[in-house]
Amino acid sequence: MYKVTLESLLTDSIALKHLPNAGFRHAVQTAENAFKLAIERGICPDLATKAGLLHDIGHTNWEEHGEWDYESYNYFDIHPIKGAERAHELLTLKGEHLGKAREIALAILFHSGSSPITRNIELTPLQRLIMEADDLDAREGGKHHNLEISFEKALEKVKNLDRLVQDEIKDCDDNCESCHRR
Ligand SMILES: [Fe+2]
Ligand SMILES: [Fe+2]
Repeated sequence: MYKVTLESLLTDSIALKHLPNAGFRHAVQTAENAFKLAIERGICPDLATKAGLLHDIGHTNWEEHGEWDYESYNYFDIHPIKGAERAHELLTLKGEHLGKAREIALAILFHSGSSPITRNIELTPLQRLIMEADDLDAREGGKHHNLEISFEKALEKVKNLDRLVQDEIKDCDDNCESCHRR
């Protein structure tokens, strides 16, 4: 029933390659924040924790003439778009339910509050939740990306979250199309 775990996502080579760009600590903290908010709001904790863990998987080098180009990186929504695509690829490779993969990828696409993409869009409860779970960990000047924990610690926290999510969705019939918790 609960096929794709956070542990299986975190330990995949796609996540290992890209998550360090924004930091394992920030990824795991956002997943933990997302779990708490999901329980408070009656939103699916499976979707919320996966989107939380993977929300910044799209961070990448973005240079113009050999210089980091923050302006176009931000204005053209590079990391949310890449993140939605990478997360969707990772989730479907792992065998995620396609309805879940879509909801998670869209929550990642719309997670950035400063992004022009989100300006004229009414966010779903899950999409708003991921934006807020991310913001709860934000520190001035993007310092939340530089604070680190070991990979072992990140794995331990993610395994704990897997147990909590499993417990919450044990009666779920996995029919995401008819589920209102997103
Ligand atoms: Fe982000
Ligand atoms: Fe973030």
